[in-house]
Amino acid sequence: MKQSTSVLFVCLGNICRSPTAEAVFRHKAELAGLDIQIDSAGTHGYHIGKQPDNRSQSAGIERGYSFKGLKCRRVDESDFTKFDYILAMDRSNLENLRGMAPVQTHEKIKLFLDFADTEDEEVPDPYYGGKRGFELVLDLIELASDGLIAHINKQQ
Ligand code: 4NP
Repeated sequence: MKQSTSVLFVCLGNICRSPTAEAVFRHKAELAGLDIQIDSAGTHGYHIGKQPDNRSQSAGIERGYSFKGLKCRRVDESDFTKFDYILAMDRSNLENLRGMAPVQTHEKIKLFLDFADTEDEEVPDPYYGGKRGFELVLDLIELASDGLIAHINKQQ
């Protein structure tokens, strides 16, 4: 039997965008009846052990997503072998990941928005901005999650 697909979402701090992606994608994958291992991590360790940013949680909870149990961690070397898809929120995250990852794992590292039906390529960092930034993060992540689910459904 094929083992379930696994997806790691990555941003800089692992407190805004990638935990939001984890919460949204987990919700949508469950609704789609897909067995997917889902996690998130940051390329940097500014907030290790902390829960997702309150602004991300409020915006996500309003749309029905759960952030229960999520805790910030940093990407580590075993992630590059463990996960089938390693999805970066922006180009800087992508470059950082490619710099850390063994070359033979580079093809699984992609921009998350490669799966979204939009011209946007990056999920912008909302950390230093206002509420609208957090809503945009959710809009883009919802689109990309739908696209990734359709893609994985085709593969399975
Ligand atoms: P994230 O946002 O990468 O979406 O989690 C950030 C969180 C923290 C910082 C920057 C971005 N920071 O500089 O502490």
